[in-house]
Amino acid sequence: MAGYDDGSDASDRIRGYIDRLGDRIEGWVCHSGQKTVRCRIDDRDIPVPATLYRADVRDAGWGDGFCGFYIDTPPDLRDGQFHSFSLEVPGYSGFTFPDCPGQILLGIPAFAINLLHPDETEACREFWRTHLTLETGQPVDVTDLGFDFMTKTGLTLVIRAHERVVGFSLLEPKRLSGYRHVAVLRIALLKPYRHRGLGRHLLQATLEQAGVSGYRRIELTVNVNNRAARRLYDRFGFLEEGLLREHYFDGHHYADEWIMARCLAMDNQ
Ligand SMILES: CC(C)(COP(=O)(O)OP(=O)(O)OC[C@H]1O[C@@H](n2cnc3c(N)ncnc32)[C@H](O)[C@@H]1OP(=O)(O)O)[C@@H](O)C(=O)NCCC(=O)NCCS
Repeated sequence: MAGYDDGSDASDRIRGYIDRLGDRIEGWVCHSGQKTVRCRIDDRDIPVPATLYRADVRDAGWGDGFCGFYIDTPPDLRDGQFHSFSLEVPGYSGFTFPDCPGQILLGIPAFAINLLHPDETEACREFWRTHLTLETGQPVDVTDLGFDFMTKTGLTLVIRAHERVVGFSLLEPKRLSGYRHVAVLRIALLKPYRHRGLGRHLLQATLEQAGVSGYRRIELTVNVNNRAARRLYDRFGFLEEGLLREHYFDGHHYADEWIMARCLAMDNQ
């Protein structure tokens, strides 16, 4: 499982992670000191206990598992805009959570979903540049990464907010005779825009588009650890059809993926 630590061998070694950064912030921090975290959003200080039970942290062998926290951000700050954000562990000034301090988007921004126009290659590149840079924490050159497929299929939907592309969905048709009623779905949002319902809106629009385009079966694969995506697909009636072992390689590790599908023509039966 993901986790950051200070790398020390000392008995006060500390590890922690932010699992969800949205209107509700969720994470865990594991160390031997006082179990609290201190969140700061703009000029507000929000101290919270970090004592909720996390079986996944305990199963990873990191402490007794009583290390989880959540922070409900102040409702009056949920204005669809970015705010300055930091999260500290009192007594451990050397420890920082990933992407901290930084910016947090609160509330739901104004957004629009459209079919991507075939000549918007630059908007796609900009999306991938930002997406991969946020995922890897390093600037990424996307010139030759081969993501032009987004502008070539004609079935890419993009979601725009704050005057840029912040997410996309792609329905990639299967090309072999006998399989052309099947489209493979991919969907992703920029990190700051997740966990606020935009994925649901984008998937809804994508399935409507799939129906209009005459597809009968939409299929996808999803990493077994990807809770947000799995929940989204479950909610939209995708059914699990099997486990693809070691299907995904992230450059370091192989991961199992579920194969899931929804048959649109069967929806009305
Ligand atoms: C998968 C993804 C598109 C979902 O979009 P999203 O806007 O974050 O999801 P939503 O806010 O619409 O939430 C959809 C469901 O997931 C749940 N969810 C969101 N984040 C979650 C999390 N971290 N853990 C568990 N469930 C989560 C929501 O509660 C909601 O379920 P509900 O409707 O039953 O309440 C988005 O998280 C993403 O881009 N992830 C990275 C790329 C990716 O994994 N793509 C899919 C590859 S298969």
